[in-house]
Amino acid sequence: MTKKIVTLAGDGIGPEIMAAGLDVLAAVAPKINFDYEIEAKNFGGAAIDAENHPLPESTLNAAKNADAILLAAIGGPKYNDAAVRPEQGLLALRKELGLFANIRPVQIFDALKHLSPLKPEIIEGVDFVVVRELTGGIYFGEHTLNARDARDVNDYSYEEIERIIKISFEIARGRGKKVTSVDKQNVLATSKLWRIVAEDVAKSYPDVTLEHALVDSLAMKMITNPSDFDVIVTENLFGDILSDESSVLPGTLGVMPSASHAANGPSLYEPIHGSAPDIAGLGIANPISMILSVAMMLRESFDETAGAQFIENAVNKTLLDGVLTKDLGGTASLSEMTAAIISNL
Ligand code: NAD
Ligand code: IPM
Ligand code: MN
Repeated sequence: MTKKIVTLAGDGIGPEIMAAGLDVLAAVAPKINFDYEIEAKNFGGAAIDAENHPLPESTLNAAKNADAILLAAIGGPKYNDAAVRPEQGLLALRKELGLFANIRPVQIFDALKHLSPLKPEIIEGVDFVVVRELTGGIYFGEHTLNARDARDVNDYSYEEIERIIKISFEIARGRGKKVTSVDKQNVLATSKLWRIVAEDVAKSYPDVTLEHALVDSLAMKMITNPSDFDVIVTENLFGDILSDESSVLPGTLGVMPSASHAANGPSLYEPIHGSAPDIAGLGIANPISMILSVAMMLRESFDETAGAQFIENAVNKTLLDGVLTKDLGGTASLSEMTAAIISNL
């Protein structure tokens, strides 16, 4: 059966890296007999330009009816004063689709080890996953901005915490069997509840070790002892910050993919980074974050493990061959790197 993939290219480097991801998908599909069709929709700033809203109804409907969604990136200085910003469109899309579980893997391809800003002995054996709660917390609480005061409400229910903690235990069960639950329990009520729920869920997973960490010192340990971690689970805002921090391990945001899952309905795959306005249109963005998001889609939405593996191997081979974009210290353009990955498939 033909799979319907909705693509949201968005803004900045979004259209460039989306094209690269789709070129790789087109090259791998015949090798695995994967039959698909693409429906490209306006989203983010591009949708503000075309349809006056970052998440037009037809985009949301297409996303709801897709088998999977690929998103590149949205946002940029041009839209900072928009009535409804691109970022609000992204949050609305996540909420509407119920995409509460955001999976952000952190692994370092062999070829990247010597490029990391950290010492090789620190990088050795790094392989963890940040599980970020994506539809709750301070992102979705009440926001009030007055001239002389402002407030943002951080809300979490027991059920919202429970379902994301469960996901992290399920993932840990299939890998290193350790969950690090990250909070600010020494200050925040939401974090106190988070810790109680984590303990409750852990009772059903006697084969998995649970440890708790405070977010401030965890931010330090993620860099000094990154190989200690297997699955890190945390609330929306902490997960946003910690996952960008984790990109320091491979050395660039340009290689970081993610998957977002709902209880029901299509999953969404996107790089963790933004629209990189500083390099948009220059043809030098690293397409690997998008290409690895395509690989995650093949594996997690379509059970096409071989296809995902082909892509990941080709990326590793390309990096080993020394084809590197500027963020990795090289001179390859986005199209040169994409062509090299395709030829290594
Ligand atoms: P950013 O992630 O866009 O960029 C941070 C830095 O990383 C920049 O120097 C950029 O050049 C570099 N970078 C990011 N992706 C790269 C790639 N693929 N190849 C090479 N270098 C890359 O963060 P920012 O500049 O703080 O935000 C820019 C805009 O993106 C903002 O409007 C923000 O809200 C938005 N944003 C969107 C998403 C998303 O679409 N999911 C995520 C994060 C930020
Ligand atoms: C991300 C981004 C978004 C977030 C922004 C653009 C709203 O930083 O996907 O990590 O904070 O979730
Ligand atoms: Mn982010």
